Amino acid sequence: MIHSDAFVLEIISSFFVKIIIEEPQMPAFGQHLGEVCQLGSVIFLKGTLGMGKTTLSRALVQGLGWQGKVKSPTYTLVEQYDLANSVVFHFDLYRLADPEELEFLGIRDFDAQRGLWLVEWPEKGVGLLPSADLVIELSECESADARQVTISAHSSRGESQLKSLRNRMPEAI
Ligand SMILES: Nc1ncnc2c1ncn2[C@@H]1O[C@H](COP(=O)(O)OP(=O)(O)O)[C@@H](O)[C@H]1O
Ligand SMILES: [Mg+2]
Repeated sequence: MIHSDAFVLEIISSFFVKIIIEEPQMPAFGQHLGEVCQLGSVIFLKGTLGMGKTTLSRALVQGLGWQGKVKSPTYTLVEQYDLANSVVFHFDLYRLADPEELEFLGIRDFDAQRGLWLVEWPEKGVGLLPSADLVIELSECESADARQVTISAHSSRGESQLKSLRNRMPEAI
């Protein structure tokens, strides 16, 4: 359970929440997010360089039990993690020059329904990515080691995942 001082959470609607997360709380947040999404979800991670997209992805993958390193897929474009209950595809499309390059990665062979997709810089893959269940946007806030994190649901699956996530933070609601 997340303790009451861990997050400041604001419920805007059933499909949009805003949270302030400090750096030491990222592992717990990532773990909760992974647990509610592990059976399948497409999560777009937005925000400028250094906002914490990779930090959150790492927290999620390690929270699902991955013991090894979680590298930024800056050069490989995608890293795959085979976990006990799910497979996570972690994309970083920052260096993608043309969405067609995703074809060479075999993106059409990945099973969108089966895995949990984490996509940094989804704007670069327009047209070839599956649509998002959740869009998470990280941005600056007053404190240098905190981030404003907005989570919006874009499908009924995303909405129920967001609801489950909120249920894990009852003291903040
Ligand atoms: N609350 C926070 N959440 C995530 N990262 C944070 C936070 N506060 C500070 N940081 C720092 O910001 C940087 C985020 O880097 P990274 O996760 O690689 O960003 P991105 O993938 O968005 O470019 C790291 O150096 C991390 O230590
Ligand atoms: Mg990154």
